[in-house]
Amino acid sequence: MKVLAPMAGITNGKFCNKMSVYGFDILTIGGYNADQKSIDAGLKIIKRGRSEFDIAQNHLKQHIINEIKIIKNNNNYNGLVSVNLRASSPDPIIKISEISEIDIIEINAHCRQEELIEAGCGQALLRNSSLLKDFISKVVENCDKKVSVKIRANVAGVDIIKIVKAIDDAGADFLHVDAMKPGFDTADYDIIKSIKKNVDIFIIGNNSVKDLISAQNMLSAGANGISIARAAINGNLSFDLSRI
Ligand SMILES: Cc1cc2nc3c(=O)[nH]c(=O)nc-3n(C[C@H](O)[C@H](O)[C@H](O)COP(=O)(O)O)c2cc1C
Repeated sequence: MKVLAPMAGITNGKFCNKMSVYGFDILTIGGYNADQKSIDAGLKIIKRGRSEFDIAQNHLKQHIINEIKIIKNNNNYNGLVSVNLRASSPDPIIKISEISEIDIIEINAHCRQEELIEAGCGQALLRNSSLLKDFISKVVENCDKKVSVKIRANVAGVDIIKIVKAIDDAGADFLHVDAMKPGFDTADYDIIKSIKKNVDIFIIGNNSVKDLISAQNMLSAGANGISIARAAINGNLSFDLSRI
């Protein structure tokens, strides 16, 4: 399974169409801010110069429908579309999941910008594994789409094994792990190995996949699939995904 990972302000329908020729099985749009708290955080992030999707809450559903239609009307692509969403509670995510064009809802427990963490979104969801489990369970029980959860590894004070068990127990379909290794430009494959030993959930391994070797390393560590963000940020990919 090969996945285009979300890049806020970049991975929209048009960008995904550029990526559709490379053999991805899942194209991800977003991350979108899905509740007022995350929207306000996003505006602060934009003010300090970082790119974000700036969409009002009452326009978000229609915006997502439009972006997915751009992808699904494209004859080059027969794969799935995932939507990466940030929110401080499950209900806004459940509401977005009603969009029939969506294949996968991705809960963002990953973004580390101060503003989002203060709003109780992104990486803040990793602080408490039982609250995270309740959050995910509510989404899983109330939506008819596949559910992915995107997390970051090596976050100070977070017991990642407790977190991945909670995600698995909550019934999510995909565990999308940014195996970031602070100070290195390769992923932390040992973290993927430990996660694999502890859960049965489908693991999408992310971080520094930039060629066939790094993709193979991620799969050898135990990931069931790989995802790519920065290696695709310019709208093209320098290696052949069909060889993975
Ligand atoms: C510009 C940019 C924006 C990003 N925005 C998001 C986001 O909104 N949601 C998310 O879960 N990850 C986001 N990410 C993280 C990527 O999906 C990915 O986890 C990270 O870049 C590591 O993977 P890579 O080494 O393939 O780039 C973003 C990354 C970049 C570079």
